[in-house]
Amino acid sequence: MASQNLLLLPGDGIGPEIMVEVKKVIAWFNEKGGMSFETDDGLVGGSAYDAHGQSISEEDMAKAMAADAVIFGAVGGPKWDDVPYEVRPEAGLLRLRKDMELFANLRPAICYPALADASSLKKDIIEGLDILIVRELTGGVYFGEPKEITDLGNGQKRGVDTQVYDTYEIERISKVAFELARTRNNKVCSMEKRNVMKSGVLWNEVVTQTHKAGFEDVTLEHMLADAGGMQLVRWPKQFDVIVTDNLFGDMLSDVAAMLTGSLGMLPSASLGAPDAKTGKRKALYEPVHGSAPDIAGTGAANPIAMIASFGMALRYSFEEVAAADMLDKAIANALDKGLRTKDIAAAGEATVSTTEMGDAIVAELDALSA
Ligand code: NAD
Ligand code: IPM
Ligand code: MN
Repeated sequence: MASQNLLLLPGDGIGPEIMVEVKKVIAWFNEKGGMSFETDDGLVGGSAYDAHGQSISEEDMAKAMAADAVIFGAVGGPKWDDVPYEVRPEAGLLRLRKDMELFANLRPAICYPALADASSLKKDIIEGLDILIVRELTGGVYFGEPKEITDLGNGQKRGVDTQVYDTYEIERISKVAFELARTRNNKVCSMEKRNVMKSGVLWNEVVTQTHKAGFEDVTLEHMLADAGGMQLVRWPKQFDVIVTDNLFGDMLSDVAAMLTGSLGMLPSASLGAPDAKTGKRKALYEPVHGSAPDIAGTGAANPIAMIASFGMALRYSFEEVAAADMLDKAIANALDKGLRTKDIAAAGEATVSTTEMGDAIVAELDALSA
């Protein structure tokens, strides 16, 4: 494998703690998996703000644009509650997504067999679950203008966010969903609120047109997003691929995370369009969860979402499918052996630390390659 450049952005809270564990996995693939990853570190979020007053520096932005993949921890925390809105920690992540044009966010929710009892739902509802949420990531109410608070002059203020979607944005994300569905169970459920939102009407229309123009072999269903949230909890195995907008995708993927036992289990990949010349996509890989300020520094963070996000990098950026499968298997094996961080442990069950879970996954890689 030619040398590949990874930019590591640990961020805040548990971000740096879980990044230590993924570094062990990257080192393992370099030493024993025949790979050649070169890593560089940067600052993002509150840690970048503390260092230079911005949630990401121009230098680190340039490194992210040039990297073969960005591996991102998590940002945010109460320490930065009062910093100006423009430089709040989350702004660094949003800038990375927008400037790198990472419009397709893949959030798989898989229930590992060993964790079928760890969900707050009954075992038969989540056992064998394997769904993929495809979230539009660079449009919608996250980025629409105007976005402002105005003073109405009568003692009242007005907060405005704007949901905007153009045809091309809906078309390209639905194509990603249909293409991925073909590699899975060939079913897409599109979620919007066409009963209330004009952007929902357009979303439904464009997904339907895109389906007709070359994807009719894939089964397409439409659901109102609120009902979709309910169905995700009622009978999640009815879904294969869910395609939805930026805000609904954010909320529905947190719901999906809990089906798998913990927010600490869900990885994600944020992908751009393939480059016209090289075919390479810009990409950022991050866990779905945040910086978990409530457990930062306690050694309780589950590193699996972060490690599995690197697994998605192997799969989607480096075409190392066998290595990605092997890493997923190593995670499953560690869970099968009963290793549990606190978030996935049953009441009274023994727990391991972030470091112990990372080490156990590396040991399983050793065992699998022996
Ligand atoms: P959170 O995801 O950080 O935490 C929610 C709950 O899940 C907490 O109880 C936390 O302890 C638990 N949790 C999360 N990840 C875990 C893990 N790996 N192992 C064990 N438990 C885990 O969400 P929040 O508390 O709403 O947000 C905290 C901060 O994180 C906010 O500033 C928010 O903006 C930010 N955030 C960042 C990202 C990101 O960087 N991608 C994502 C979500 C939230
Ligand atoms: C996520 C997070 C982010 C989002 C925040 C931190 C900007 O919640 O990645 O799910 O809302 O997209
Ligand atoms: Mn979120």
